[in-house]
Amino acid sequence: MVRMTEAVDLHAVLKTFDDLWSPRIAARINDYDVRVTKVAGSYIWHVHDTTDEFFLVLDGELSIAVRDPDERVVTLSPGCVFVVPRGVEHRPYSDGGASIVVIEPTGIPTTGDRHDPLPDHIQTHTGLPV
Ligand code: NI
Repeated sequence: MVRMTEAVDLHAVLKTFDDLWSPRIAARINDYDVRVTKVAGSYIWHVHDTTDEFFLVLDGELSIAVRDPDERVVTLSPGCVFVVPRGVEHRPYSDGGASIVVIEPTGIPTTGDRHDPLPDHIQTHTGLPV
């Protein structure tokens, strides 16, 4: 990626696409991507074996079900952050829709190392360029 020379407006990036659960890489810091994503409905249960995953909500409300090991739900409103530890199964969902930032190492697939069967609206990738 080219060195960042200007500010990146995450809300402007969000206006450039409509697909859900399909992050755009808005910035990189060291070996990490700052990915911005629109979400609605439910993602699938999955787990990242080698990395923690950072979530920040920009708009809307995001819930993250986690099994650590008992199942519970963490709910994030705008301005709230949460980190899912490596090895913890999680399932993000948002009934009303949300815009979020996810920070994780470059090249980490969105669907993790293991996951439930993928419905049509969820694809595996490692973030798309802005
Ligand atoms: Ni994840």
